[in-house]
Amino acid sequence: MNYQTAQGWLRTEEREFLFAMAKKATTILNIGVEYGASIVCLAEGNPNAQIAAIDVNLSSNLTAYPNVAYLEHDSTTLDYTNSTYDLIFIDGDHSYVGVYKDIEAVTPALAIGGMIIFHDCGDFADPTILEHRVCPGVNQAVSDLLGENSSYIELDRVGTMRIFIRQE
Ligand SMILES: C[S@@+](CC[C@H](N)C(=O)[O-])C[C@H]1O[C@@H](n2cnc3c(N)ncnc32)[C@H](O)[C@@H]1O
Repeated sequence: MNYQTAQGWLRTEEREFLFAMAKKATTILNIGVEYGASIVCLAEGNPNAQIAAIDVNLSSNLTAYPNVAYLEHDSTTLDYTNSTYDLIFIDGDHSYVGVYKDIEAVTPALAIGGMIIFHDCGDFADPTILEHRVCPGVNQAVSDLLGENSSYIELDRVGTMRIFIRQE
């Protein structure tokens, strides 16, 4: 499997970013698997990282990697209290409430200095992103919970992704 061509909803620059960021991580959480493109990017980016891959409805023909643990579960109701991740990628429920719940559930498990990435945040100034599911609820929930949150610094945007670092 090749991370640049694996079936999925990721743009070229998003794939390259996930591939590169995985190299800096040892524990990774990916919410939203579908065809598995983001998993391929992360697993090929760092075959040594431990990757948890969560989807409420897992496909039966996903690529198996020794360092990826697939789990079929609602991400908003999982118990993350015994886990710590230094990279979290959120691409699951795209509703406002779903993203809000994901942020509430997973951010306590993000390491200080760790990175959290949200896909499909949308940039209404760029009409090409309409092809990639502009989801206003995603962007709004991210802004409401992390936009003015002093514990997080917004690092960058890559394609439809918003990227934050936990500071404290
Ligand atoms: C846009 S797709 C993920 C695409 C994938 N990251 C990729 O790179 O191609 C969204 C996925 O989120 C899953 N999903 C939706 N709500 C969820 C929830 N509450 N918990 C876990 N997965 C959820 C859906 O089943 C779907 O497979």
